[in-house]
Amino acid sequence: MLTDRLNCIINYVNCDCAADIGTDHAYVATELIRLGRAKHVIAADVRQGPLNAATENIKKNSMENKIETRLGSGLSVLKKGEADAVVIAGMGGELICEILAADIDIAKETVLYLQPMNAQYEVRRFLIENNFRIVKEDIVCEGERVYNVIIAENGERKPFLKEIDYHLPPYLKEHSLYEKLLNKKKREFTKIVKGLKASKNCDKEKLTYYEKLLSEI
Ligand SMILES: C[S@@+](CC[C@H](N)C(=O)[O-])C[C@H]1O[C@@H](n2cnc3c(N)ncnc32)[C@H](O)[C@@H]1O
Repeated sequence: MLTDRLNCIINYVNCDCAADIGTDHAYVATELIRLGRAKHVIAADVRQGPLNAATENIKKNSMENKIETRLGSGLSVLKKGEADAVVIAGMGGELICEILAADIDIAKETVLYLQPMNAQYEVRRFLIENNFRIVKEDIVCEGERVYNVIIAENGERKPFLKEIDYHLPPYLKEHSLYEKLLNKKKREFTKIVKGLKASKNCDKEKLTYYEKLLSEI
């Protein structure tokens, strides 16, 4: 049984060939095959250790003929158009942006299923500025933890009107878990503002930015 965070992503995928970038134990890859959400999966990781764990789990599930492992960074392990779905989950938002920027041609030829652990606003901004359309977003909770799942593909999307919208997109307002996301953001911004106020060399610009966001929530 996978975590709700990973199940949420997996339930959106439906393709021939998926890539699980940063696969670690290949939990996403094996579940995609088990549920028939992908016919073939490329499970990739930049480090040999996690890739070994992935290989073991793939063997345990007798899925060697359906899942292949590749060692390498981000989308560089893929040929253009090879994977019709790319899952990048459990990484920081900035790293996800770096991975997409490094191989933007490959990113443009697939559907992206992104689950950033932080800096979700950076991911939204990156997608919009680089002509990706956010097709769908979801919120998923595991206890007190709140996660965002962002699905995007090549296409245009108008920038958000206000800065706060990059943190709390208006299209999520109707979501049953929106209140949880809102409270998480309140806590996050309050902590940053408090920290900045307490620091000796307070970054005034950053403080103004976060105070404004807090006032807009
Ligand atoms: C915290 S684990 C996430 C595992 C799984 N995707 C999940 O969501 O539970 C992050 C994995 O990403 C891998 N990773 C980090 N940077 C990467 C990169 N540039 N390309 C591919 N994998 C990367 C790490 O080695 C690690 O195994």
